[in-house]
Amino acid sequence: MKKIQAGGQDFLLARVRDRYYCTEAYCPHLGGNLSEGTLTGTILTCPLHHSQFDISDGHVLRWTDLTGSILDAAKTQRPQRPLRTYPVKIEGNAVFVKW
Ligand code: FES
Repeated sequence: MKKIQAGGQDFLLARVRDRYYCTEAYCPHLGGNLSEGTLTGTILTCPLHHSQFDISDGHVLRWTDLTGSILDAAKTQRPQRPLRTYPVKIEGNAVFVKW
């Protein structure tokens, strides 16, 4: 996976087996650079507080690895939301992203 730019905007582009996925480049929690996270199958883990998202549709699997009152405060400050995803089309050697 890597961070790419298109139209002056950053995106995360990832290949899992023979499929490509595109999402927003920064974590919806506090802006972690997702290209520095880890990808296991389609499960993306943010490098900062380890929220996890499924990049196939953006849904949240875990909203931070914070616990207790710190997690409650984090959810109040930044309510959980899915990762934005964008359709990807491959034509020859070109990768097209629609946003
Ligand atoms: S910035 Fe990604 S989990 Fe906090």
